[in-house]
Amino acid sequence: MPPILPPTNKQPQNQTQNIQPPFSSSSMDLLLLEKALLGLFFSVIIAIVISKLRGKKFKLPPGPIPVPIFGNWLEVGDDLNHRNLTEYAKKFGEIFLLRMGQRNLVVVSSPDLAKEVLHTQGVEFGSRTRNVVFDIFTGKGQDMVFTVYGEHWRKMRRIMTVPFFTNKVVQQYRKWWEFEVDSVIEDVKKNPESETVGIVLRTRLQLMMYNNMFRIMFDRRFESEDDPLFKKLRALNGERSRLAQSFDYNYGDFIPILRPFLRGYLKICKEVKETRLKLFKDYFVDERKKIASTKSTTSNGLKCAIDHILEAQQKGEINEDNVLYIVENINVAAIETTLWSIEWGIAELVNHPRIQKKLRDEIDAILGPGVQVTEPDTHKLPYLQAVVKETLRLRMAIPLLVPHMNLHDAKLNGYDIPAESKILVNAWWLANNPEQWKNPEEFRPERFLEEEAKVEANGNDFRYLPFGVGRRSCPGIILALPILGITLGRLVQNFDLLPPPGQSKLDTSEKGGQFSLHILKHSTIVMKPRSF
Ligand code: HEM
Repeated sequence: MPPILPPTNKQPQNQTQNIQPPFSSSSMDLLLLEKALLGLFFSVIIAIVISKLRGKKFKLPPGPIPVPIFGNWLEVGDDLNHRNLTEYAKKFGEIFLLRMGQRNLVVVSSPDLAKEVLHTQGVEFGSRTRNVVFDIFTGKGQDMVFTVYGEHWRKMRRIMTVPFFTNKVVQQYRKWWEFEVDSVIEDVKKNPESETVGIVLRTRLQLMMYNNMFRIMFDRRFESEDDPLFKKLRALNGERSRLAQSFDYNYGDFIPILRPFLRGYLKICKEVKETRLKLFKDYFVDERKKIASTKSTTSNGLKCAIDHILEAQQKGEINEDNVLYIVENINVAAIETTLWSIEWGIAELVNHPRIQKKLRDEIDAILGPGVQVTEPDTHKLPYLQAVVKETLRLRMAIPLLVPHMNLHDAKLNGYDIPAESKILVNAWWLANNPEQWKNPEEFRPERFLEEEAKVEANGNDFRYLPFGVGRRSCPGIILALPILGITLGRLVQNFDLLPPPGQSKLDTSEKGGQFSLHILKHSTIVMKPRSF
């Protein structure tokens, strides 16, 4: 039987070799096929009955007409990225429903409805959806980022706030962040290629972001990109992101009878998850426990985040698995998101030399040439802040936010939203809709000093939600903004950032995932040191 796969417009994936294709040719598959056909038959009957009942009960949002079992999946495909969903919004309006097999997917694309979901009905829509892959990586919601709205989430968020998300943390670690970007600058200057053919700066910045976060978590840093532990960690985190962000497993998540064909994929997910949590435990959490039993403080005399988290465990508030899932969450939520944004910011600055020069001139004028940007300085540099905001607007790292979910039947804009629907807020479109913004496709930081001067990244305007807003908004904004400011500020201060020889612009094609947006090709950049 030919594979029943939906039309997709996705890019070819760089897959791990032993992920099984959905349909392989073996006798095992005949058995599966028989089961699938039987399942299909009964599911059609059940789905028709349910849809008849549901049709009577619910006034559902508009959307393409679904067929039994598959819903809209055959028509829509797997690639539910922000741009494809924007096209559906243009057709069906500010709220629409896609029936993706057994899953209801509701997409909202207007500031008013974003406010309704994230703020006014923040409790009703404050849960997270699950899917077969996330269930593996989060131990069915034992973490914080992907757990439903309720007691467990409240407890985890409270426990994580003091060690991670306060201004005290920023003040305790900002000198380290400044040190880390300095060490990037030193390394770049030592590399003769950076001035001539150029370098892929991203790899070095990735080490910097790991060091920024592992300092907060464990009072640790990695000396170089060749550190074997760093390499292992990076590879496992990369694999986890790739497996979770891919659209390739959607078919098995949407259509339960196709789930047997995901066996190979899910097996790899389980292996990656187990190896990764073991690495966190053996090399970081247990190591820290040993140190804490002797010194109980960091090298500068203060507790690091894991000390606070382990205290909560000792008090019986959370268990050992929860501790590991907190480490897992910070690894996925903090490092790559901030790194993608730094990478986008650099690419836009290279492609807009006038803006780059204007930023450099502002820093020179306000701080004095050669005086290195610190965290308190970022508040005195409005153009730097505008560059950061514009990067997060045009190149939103999490363009659909992390999917929300309503645990119970709910109402939105006069429509019924069945319990456990996945709710996507198309935050990228809110911030890039020409009906709401002047020439949104243009990278123009000035907008945040002129017509949009009152708009902040913290969600004070529902057209601009790079970190979400409300109960499930990003608590990491307090760390991400200063890190972005210090990093972009110091790089521009110390180097002329240029495209590689023979190229006038960097390629800024995008790659979208389940809820990520990063640059498709990591750019090579020429970095000419400035002399002061
Ligand atoms: C530029 C960098 C970052 C961006 C653009 C970003 C964006 C976001 C977004 C859009 C959400 C989901 C909001 C929602 O669903 O309504 C989120 C959630 C979250 N972020 Fe960030 N984030 C960034 C950096 C960080 C950092 C540095 C940390 C931690 C140190 C962090 C920790 C979290 C956590 C824990 C959540 C889940 C909150 C919850 O479910 O209650 N993020 N982030």
